[in-house]
Amino acid sequence: GHGVFTFDPGFLSTASCESKITFIDGGKGVLLHRGYPIDQLATQSDYLEVCYLLLYGELPDQKQKEHFTSTVQNHTMVHEQLAAFYKGFRRDAHPMAIMAGVVAALSAFYHDSLDITDPHHREVCAFRLIAKIPTIAAMCYKYTKGQPFVYPRNDQSYAGNFLRMMFSTPCSDYQVNPVLERAMDRIFTLHADHEQNASTSTVRLAGSSGANPFACIAAGIAALWGPAHGGANEAVLTMLEEIGDESRIDEFVARAKDKNDPFRLMGFGHRVYKNFDPRAKVMKQTCDEVLGELGLDNDPLLKIAKRLEQIALEDEYFIERSLYPNVDFYSGIILKAIGIPTNMFTVIFALARTVGWIAHWNEMISDPSYRIGRPRQLYTGEDKREWKPVSER
Ligand code: SDX
Repeated sequence: GHGVFTFDPGFLSTASCESKITFIDGGKGVLLHRGYPIDQLATQSDYLEVCYLLLYGELPDQKQKEHFTSTVQNHTMVHEQLAAFYKGFRRDAHPMAIMAGVVAALSAFYHDSLDITDPHHREVCAFRLIAKIPTIAAMCYKYTKGQPFVYPRNDQSYAGNFLRMMFSTPCSDYQVNPVLERAMDRIFTLHADHEQNASTSTVRLAGSSGANPFACIAAGIAALWGPAHGGANEAVLTMLEEIGDESRIDEFVARAKDKNDPFRLMGFGHRVYKNFDPRAKVMKQTCDEVLGELGLDNDPLLKIAKRLEQIALEDEYFIERSLYPNVDFYSGIILKAIGIPTNMFTVIFALARTVGWIAHWNEMISDPSYRIGRPRQLYTGEDKREWKPVSER
């Protein structure tokens, strides 16, 4: 009806993009960051090393690692005025709503002098975001709890600082358990980047107009919030709690297969992976370590999760559709064991993904040939027709 779709070279420049940052082979379940397999990075490097790798393309040597780590640690505090933005939210606001609003507000703090064509300015944006996003995230939690904000400290690890800012109060300082600190750091790494997913594509499209990078990251936070994307980790816990007992698993698996039922098995399936998500394997190993450390091996939700995974992996509906556990399936169980409430799970995903978003933004802006994104559409609406006055309609 609307003419044959003609190939337009510009279409490729909007519908897909080139990048050197992350490679995914969905059929084989492969994820590489700048060529390094995710399981090696998650178990051998710390998150800040991975941040350096995503931004600069190489793993840092000792001197580069020390400089990058100290630079990030010395930029963790936010402007005191930024704290005022939290006060505009109700205490029961979803932390993702608060985070999106406060990160967008950062664009009002760093705008007049910001020249995104200057590589050093772009580097400072990256440092500021990587350094401040844990502080902003923890402040979202403290605000919804009605507790005072906890300042970051320059002598703490990235993950240790975050856990302290989440759980310390003026009455007692939180003692960071090294096993939980390592698990938190590993969760950050496992969520750091994932090629052109919905939220990263949002950041790229917003950034392609030359918009303020902090506002673009806020757009990425908004896209990540959805239950089909970053909101899945919160949805997995809600699902496991709704299942409640191993005896009800079959009922929920049947619902997930019923086309008339909108219920989906949260934490399963992926737009790209048609094999095990390599991040899920490391996440499952981390889950066992954390719950073992905390003496929660018999956690009922973990038992339901493991039984559910086993059933789904043997069910022909899931096998036919190559539906496997994804990065979100086990992360929520670990976060809950650490003491993080479910409404903060996607905030932690956004915290970790900020480096991926800003690395993609920087890669795009630093390419002088980049152009504004303009996805094409296939028009399926009405043909041209005459207007009629209301008396004739
Ligand atoms: C993330 O893009 C990224 O990289 C995202 C991410 C990242 O790091 O940025 O990896 C993070 O978002 C992981 C995904 C988290 N989402 C969830 O766990 C929510 C539950 N998953 C589903 O909503 C779903 O699997 C999606 C949204 C992830 C993918 O949806 P698709 O692309 O529609 O899945 P598909 O085309 O592979 O589906 C094939 C079939 C369909 O059935 P049929 O029409 O062929 O009969 O499988 C069905 C789907 O209905 N299906 C599911 C299912 N996922 C797909 N059926 C039941 N439960 C599910 N979870």
